[in-house]
Amino acid sequence: MERDVIIACDFGSAEEAYKFLDKFENESRKPYLKIGMELYYAAGNEIVKELKRRGHKIFLDLKLHDIPNTVKKAMKVLSALDVDMVNVHASGTKEMMAAGLEGLTRADGSRPLLIAVTQLTSTSQQAMNEQLGISGDINDTIVHYARNAQEAGLDGVVCSPLEAGLVKSACGATFKAITPGIRFADSATDDQVRITTPARAREIGSDYIVVGRPITASQDPVAAWRRCVDEFCG
Ligand code: C5P
Repeated sequence: MERDVIIACDFGSAEEAYKFLDKFENESRKPYLKIGMELYYAAGNEIVKELKRRGHKIFLDLKLHDIPNTVKKAMKVLSALDVDMVNVHASGTKEMMAAGLEGLTRADGSRPLLIAVTQLTSTSQQAMNEQLGISGDINDTIVHYARNAQEAGLDGVVCSPLEAGLVKSACGATFKAITPGIRFADSATDDQVRITTPARAREIGSDYIVVGRPITASQDPVAAWRRCVDEFCG
């Protein structure tokens, strides 16, 4: 199984991102990076292309959610950027996810991994029931959405590391679990609630862990990244 640590590059400008990444200049293994809405909206396709040119793998975390035709066409544009992973909201329906997959697939059949967000980890059980109008247990919704994503042909889901086991039981070991909410046993939890360590995420079955502040806010980001890789990839 290909396991990796993905650094969440949650920066507000290209300058900040490059300043952070310069610290990794001498690493022979280039870190896998996540570019989310903040950095993408600030720095656009240029930074994606430049980081690919520097040899990084990229998870472009834009969480698409729109009518199927729009998602299909948007995915076609993102596919041309040659990123390694992109995502959609599973709540957009199976039709929307399948359309996204179609748009993402290049003429030669190759494509980035496509994963689905089930329920954001910021959504509580109560908010899902009362505001989103979805009744029942949040874990059942997560598994239901993961099954929909699998039926639409997607490669996996983003979920809390504590939910990765549930997803794997429902969808099988090869269906990927990409998990944020990672903290070292001795570090601050920040605003994350359902968290675990890199080593425990590996035991539960995560394929990729997404780690932001434990690396980006560390005094020594390279050492923190290496520690994550040692604990998670072995
Ligand atoms: O700094 P931290 O390690 O908490 O960063 C986690 C990253 O994963 C952030 O970019 C956050 O937006 C993202 N994420 C998350 N929970 C989700 C989906 C994405 O924390 N359910």
